[in-house]
Amino acid sequence: MIIAIDGPAAAGKGTLSRRVAQEYGFHHLDTGLTYRATAKALIDAGLPLDDEALAEGVAREIELADLDREILSAHAIGEAASKIAVMPLVRRALVEAQRAFSVRAPGTVLDGRDIGTVVCPDAPVKLYVTASAEVRARRRFDEITGNGIPADFLEILADIVKRDERDMGRADSPLRPAPDAHLLDTSEMSIEAAFWAAKTIIDAALKH
Ligand code: C5P
Repeated sequence: MIIAIDGPAAAGKGTLSRRVAQEYGFHHLDTGLTYRATAKALIDAGLPLDDEALAEGVAREIELADLDREILSAHAIGEAASKIAVMPLVRRALVEAQRAFSVRAPGTVLDGRDIGTVVCPDAPVKLYVTASAEVRARRRFDEITGNGIPADFLEILADIVKRDERDMGRADSPLRPAPDAHLLDTSEMSIEAAFWAAKTIIDAALKH
């Protein structure tokens, strides 16, 4: 049983995916962390972010068990991740690891940008979680300032729009809803409401 959850940056799919995995007792993989870990390893080693063969080699060394969300959460790492995520060889290496994870028993929840379209196209449940760029920027802004760190709303909004363009505009595995994905627009929803909406869709799919 595989639950595929895709959507743009800061749409709330991480929180939703963890909640869904907990509800069904499934393993969860935030595939964004695999791109982030690859980017961070390159940066830490002082290597360039534009050498595809080098980045592929680093991607093949990534251990899923070592992914640390806190360490990888920095904004700059997300930006670097979206740059190396345009490279087909990097994607191929990471998708192999993600597919191997997806078949774990009793079931898995994978979230990212291309789970329903490329990584697990046969997943019986696909959700595409989205929200307006303004709402996503506001949530990110509240999260950062809530931690006592000053932030600039317009700068965050511009970053989100730029990241969307990069993720949706790339040639290999662009971000888009799979034709059979259920759309979940959380612009006007709390995380709790989004969870219940997701659960209704998943329970219906599990019955078939
Ligand atoms: O979701 P997160 O912000 O952690 O992802 C970082 C970047 O990794 C994204 O902007 C995207 O470019 C890339 N990514 C991807 N495919 C995925 C997950 C993330 O291209 N399945």
